[in-house]
Amino acid sequence: MALSEGTVVRVNGPVVEATGMDGATMLELVEVGSERLPGEVVALEGGVATVQVYEYTGGLGPGARVRPRGEPLAAELGPGLLGGVFDGMLRRLHGAEDFLAPGARPATLPRDRRVPFEPGTAAGGDVAPGAVLGTVAETRALEHRVLVPPGTAGRLEWLAERGEYGVDDTIAVVGGAEVSLAQRWPVRRPRPFVRRLPVTAPLVTGQRVLDLFYPIGRGSSGAVPGGFGTGKTVLLQQIAKWCDADVIVYVGCGERGNEMADVLVELSELEDPVTGESLLGRTVLVANTSNMPVLAREASIHTGVTVAEYFRDMGYDVVLIADSTSRWAEALREVASRTGQLPAEEGYPAGLASELASFYERAAAVETLGGGEGSVTILGAVSPPGGDMSEPVSAHTRRFVRCSWSLDRDLAYARHYPAVSWRQSWSRDAEVIAEWHFLQRDSGWQERRERALSLLAEADRLEAVAQLVGAASLPASERLVLLAARLLRAGVLQQSALSPTDSYSPPEKQSALLALVLAVHDRCRRLHERGVAIERIEAADLSDVVHARDATPVDGAGEVDGIRERVLAGLEELE
Ligand SMILES: Nc1ncnc2c1ncn2[C@@H]1O[C@H](COP(=O)(O)OP(=O)(O)OP(=O)(O)O)[C@@H](O)[C@H]1O
Ligand SMILES: [Mg+2]
Repeated sequence: MALSEGTVVRVNGPVVEATGMDGATMLELVEVGSERLPGEVVALEGGVATVQVYEYTGGLGPGARVRPRGEPLAAELGPGLLGGVFDGMLRRLHGAEDFLAPGARPATLPRDRRVPFEPGTAAGGDVAPGAVLGTVAETRALEHRVLVPPGTAGRLEWLAERGEYGVDDTIAVVGGAEVSLAQRWPVRRPRPFVRRLPVTAPLVTGQRVLDLFYPIGRGSSGAVPGGFGTGKTVLLQQIAKWCDADVIVYVGCGERGNEMADVLVELSELEDPVTGESLLGRTVLVANTSNMPVLAREASIHTGVTVAEYFRDMGYDVVLIADSTSRWAEALREVASRTGQLPAEEGYPAGLASELASFYERAAAVETLGGGEGSVTILGAVSPPGGDMSEPVSAHTRRFVRCSWSLDRDLAYARHYPAVSWRQSWSRDAEVIAEWHFLQRDSGWQERRERALSLLAEADRLEAVAQLVGAASLPASERLVLLAARLLRAGVLQQSALSPTDSYSPPEKQSALLALVLAVHDRCRRLHERGVAIERIEAADLSDVVHARDATPVDGAGEVDGIRERVLAGLEELE
């Protein structure tokens, strides 16, 4: 049956109203006007549809036709996503600053090339969703597993032979249904899995302040709240480059186009420390930068998570990064104000909290339909206007994430990078990850963490006192706390994204650096107990401790241990 067309009666920026839409359904995809601009039905009442359009509605006026597509907004999934750049509707771009002509419909997956398919099973038996039909060697970094899609099951009647195929070619027939390499999935519906698994293992980010103090688990969620210019983008990009996930989906949402272009260049130049392959080969970039239509931002987050879940279902650990969720929420606000919804807090729609909840809920470690394990970890930047953490997006996000890495303006101003605050940040995963380290035979992990955090907190308190009475009037034990906290801040917490040796810190080196500072604190306390004057200890040259992170190679845990022995021996001479 042909779907009945509607007619535009009102255009209000990116939102249009159309009559004659009786046959349409909520969240159905439509095409508007002669340029067939894509849009989504966001409200429906008595045949009048409110449509949010994902492109500029400049040439559009009353009388334009609105054609329902008979399906919700869906993403095309298959080989060819990795290393690509896409817009919020997953249309392929030629770079992060590319523009599509209005209504342009470039496909997601490349149609002009064939990919090598290797069957992984034999025809004849019964298969269920999630079963591996075969593989495509898409990039050298990742084996693309071709699965029986959700909703398809039965006898595997036919399976393609090893060979080169286009993404639309049938590669299998399952229970009478043809399966091709390209599949579609509605972006607002989470992809199915068997069950959620508890979060147990850490996602190693390579950033010390996170991994040592505010760790995040695989399948967990985290927010990076921070005021203007405090380093949110740099921190998230560092994680995109160095974390130990299999696939990264990076959604640039309402941020500057040149930043996305930079990520693209950097990722193509960098090598994966494990596989030695270009990091771009494990990355999917979704670019919806500030110069692109505002409403496509709203879709980009859901599109990104759908891509992440697609790779999760193959049994991979995926990280989805959204920079920034505040810009995404602005798109919600824009729709709300134009559709005359009753605004709730600060003009955001009343559904803001549930929108944020349903986004972060898609972070999960799961048993996949195929019986394997995979995870999606979600990280979102939050940029509160004026750094006000009580505003709605920040406040609601805190309720739904398991970690919060709060960036501090004063630290950023003092060029203490990453400017992750040790006062405001928290991780609800810290306990399970301590347990994981314990099981990995690092029984001291939790103790080192707790000791360092309490030194930092104690030093903050003492510094306030010292401001009033002068540090020299504090007891020696407290002056040693101040000394240790200084070393922690400069030698462990700080980590320059630009340093060739310290941009990324593997777990062994992280632990060695923390152990170095704690050992120095212990030795200084002992010296003082044996009668060495506090002034002499404070005057000791400890610059090697501070510079160990930079002065040793990336995998230089052994060298750091060497520095520790030398520094401790040097301190002995004070006695
Ligand atoms: N880890 C880091 N190492 C070195 N420099 C950093 C680091 N983090 C931030 N910076 C410096 O701070 C600047 C601003 O960082 P960034 O663009 O990430 O901030 P932002 O919070 O994303 O800003 P905006 O609010 O505009 O989105 C960077 O250009 C860089 O000079
Ligand atoms: Mg930024």
